[in-house]
Amino acid sequence: MSEPLKIAVAGLGTVGAGLVRLISERSEDLEIRAGRAIEITAVSARDRTAERGIDIAPYAWHDDPLHLAVLDDIDVVVELIGGSDGIAKTLTEAAFENGKHVVTANKALVAHHGLGLAHKAEAAGVSFSYEAAVAGGIPIIKSLREGLAGNSLHRVYGILNGTCNYILTAMSEQGREFEDVLAECQKLGYAEADPSFDIDGIDAAHKLAILASVAFGGEVNFDAVHVEGIRHISPMDMQFAEELGYRIKLLGIASIRADGLEQRVHPCMVPVDTPIAHVSGSLNAVVADGDFVGTIVQEGPGAGAGPTASAVAADIIDIARGLRVPTFGVPAGQLKAIAPVPMQRHTGAYYIRLMVVDKPGVLADITAVLRDHAVSMESVLQRTRDPGEPVPVVMTVHEAEEASMTGALEEIAAIGAIVETPRMIRIESL
Ligand SMILES: NC(=O)c1ccc[n+]([C@@H]2O[C@H](COP(=O)([O-])OP(=O)(O)OC[C@H]3O[C@@H](n4cnc5c(N)ncnc54)[C@H](OP(=O)(O)O)[C@@H]3O)[C@@H](O)[C@H]2O)c1
Repeated sequence: MSEPLKIAVAGLGTVGAGLVRLISERSEDLEIRAGRAIEITAVSARDRTAERGIDIAPYAWHDDPLHLAVLDDIDVVVELIGGSDGIAKTLTEAAFENGKHVVTANKALVAHHGLGLAHKAEAAGVSFSYEAAVAGGIPIIKSLREGLAGNSLHRVYGILNGTCNYILTAMSEQGREFEDVLAECQKLGYAEADPSFDIDGIDAAHKLAILASVAFGGEVNFDAVHVEGIRHISPMDMQFAEELGYRIKLLGIASIRADGLEQRVHPCMVPVDTPIAHVSGSLNAVVADGDFVGTIVQEGPGAGAGPTASAVAADIIDIARGLRVPTFGVPAGQLKAIAPVPMQRHTGAYYIRLMVVDKPGVLADITAVLRDHAVSMESVLQRTRDPGEPVPVVMTVHEAEEASMTGALEEIAAIGAIVETPRMIRIESL
């Protein structure tokens, strides 16, 4: 057998402790699979005395994670601290400068600095691996970069944030309000005290930018992702969606069009008979469309100690086996700068909900605005009339350009009988 692969783990929180447990419990199998032993030799976190449910006594402790990058006997630095900048980035760069491979679960780091770091890793002749950064336990990076390498992919999309999917599932199945389910998630520890990264779509956008780069061979371009979260989704919209034959999901969708790359994260109405409509709770799913393979769907746990450690371990095993794949599937210098398609040029079908004080002629005013913006209506639902009370008017419209739709909604919002901001949810034909 070859020399053991020696690794240093920076960050011993949910993922770091999970990885330590996985490597210590499965060391014999890992050695057989990798063809050499995988040994943790050094670790770093902030608090040496914290109770973590793992025994860190066998490993050299370093208060400063940067020390891990310069240790002579280390082959791989595993960055499990988090954050797009600061120590995570400094440590990653220092590891490359010292000829160490880096494995990370840090989507913010890869989404913001992936291209530069890929260049640095390549220059140093080492791997930069991040399977755990996207969709947790689902081996989607490996699928896209290796398993589907023979294809030209034209679209990749998925449910990329388990917290949002959990909230939307509970709202849909139990008719509960967003704030109520979010508070429960925070109590159970599923959502952070500051949940904005999850519920405002930023976490999903990080993952989508990474997926798009690997799928299409483009430079990671997080700034070009159109991002909306789920705060404005209401049980009433859930109910109407169900009546119309849809479920509401927060999707990340990246697609190649004739005029460039569209990347968007927002709530979508998806037909109830598509696989993605049935991905419930905190699960993730990713769908890829390729020219030769057709459509591939993968579903699984997107977060948590076990699934994330599983993905980190897979990257470490690849390094131990000597498998080297370019960071984003093609050499960093050959990644294309694909023109971003602005959201205003998106075309699709839409659901609109208006709260209307029922007066004669209102519907005619609304349809006139839609007509003036070249938006053609598909269906209208109007509910109970309590005299004087606003009633929901729900419309679906045929495929239209986003710019026309937003223009029409601005004008509709100004009609006197419309009492709340109009709600718009895009309908995806998947
Ligand atoms: N949790 C998940 O399910 C999940 C899933 C996919 C990806 N990820 C990614 O995995 C990474 C880690 O997430 P996590 O959930 O494991 O985070 P976490 O539980 O908050 O753990 C972070 C760890 O980093 C350590 N740390 C923080 N600042 C440090 C510093 N300046 N120097 C040394 N150590 C420092 C902390 O030390 P102390 O313990 O001493 O405070 C802690 O052990 C993040 O990039 C996250 O986005 C997480």
